[in-house]
Amino acid sequence: MPPTTDTTGTVRVRVHLDPADWSRHLAEETRRGLTDDPPWTPPVWFYDEVGSHLFDRITRLDEYYPTEAERSILAARSDEIAHLTGARTLVELGSGTSDKTRLLLDALWAAGTLRTFSPVDVSEEVLRTAATAIAEGYPGIAVDAVVGDFGRHLDRIPTGGRTLLAFLGSTIGNLDPDQRRAFLASVTDALAPGDWFLLGTDLVKDEARLLAAYDDAAGVTAAFNRNALVVMNRELGADFDPDAYSHRSHWDPVEHRIEMHLVADRDQRVTVRGLDDLVVDLGAGEQLRTEISTKFTAEGVEHELLAAGLEPVSAWTDPAGDVRLTLARRP
Ligand code: SAH
Ligand code: AVI
Repeated sequence: MPPTTDTTGTVRVRVHLDPADWSRHLAEETRRGLTDDPPWTPPVWFYDEVGSHLFDRITRLDEYYPTEAERSILAARSDEIAHLTGARTLVELGSGTSDKTRLLLDALWAAGTLRTFSPVDVSEEVLRTAATAIAEGYPGIAVDAVVGDFGRHLDRIPTGGRTLLAFLGSTIGNLDPDQRRAFLASVTDALAPGDWFLLGTDLVKDEARLLAAYDDAAGVTAAFNRNALVVMNRELGADFDPDAYSHRSHWDPVEHRIEMHLVADRDQRVTVRGLDDLVVDLGAGEQLRTEISTKFTAEGVEHELLAAGLEPVSAWTDPAGDVRLTLARRP
């Protein structure tokens, strides 16, 4: 299906998610997860409009350090990034509100090189709101937003000479190692030689801080987690009872990742109409894994980039050493 396009002022929004294809893809992934042992669900179910707002609240919690830590690096280093890359096109994958990205936009704008900003996200409402606000704030920049899946649509993103592709917030940590390998290979393919990739990664740290970041005192992360069940009820015709599950975060020291789970408080039988009436039985205490959030070492990040054919050029951490931004180039 050709993308649908709508142009509002200097904002163009192209929809690369064919609803039928996207629903089929998500249904297949969810069936694979719910029939696995132990069962899991794709994290993309978090991000309807409500979930995107809950994520935004998470980023402002005291316990959730990654957003402010990454913002501090961008505040200190965006001018340097603008100088090194001289980017004409900034593409942001999984852009959400693109809030921190304004620091990069400011620097590229001041350097006088930026022509196009292209945020890419599956969540259309959030993308439209962010794209419109950015177009208003940066007159003269073309905002070419894409509703798309960064796992499958990187071949369709607009790259127009001297591109900087940014993937911030450690969203790469939500992919498992195979998905990361495939994703990074598709990033390399999407870039022309000499183009740039800016990657935000959360770093391995004290377990207590990691657990607090994914189980905050105000219960916002718990609400974000349960919202995935509400979205699957609506989108897949499932009959999860969100109140019958407890939020649990767990650190896996072998895989270096936080795993978010929903634990059944009592026996649950769930029927998913949209998956041919798939029946899922969860006994009391059994859990559904809803997200992995991998934490990296500096060496691990560099190794994965190099393995994908990307050359790390510079890297920065915040003063506390909590998160890392790596700037790499396709040779
Ligand atoms: N980059 C922002 C937002 C991170 S939240 C930050 O650093 O704070 C993760 C974002 O990725 C959400 O906006 C969600 O809608 C989007 N997302 C999740 N899976 C996606 C996919 N497969 N393709 C594109 N966007 C995706
Ligand atoms: C988007 N992503 C990087 C967040 C993370 O930290 O893994 C999502 C999140 N899950 C719970 N809190 C925030």
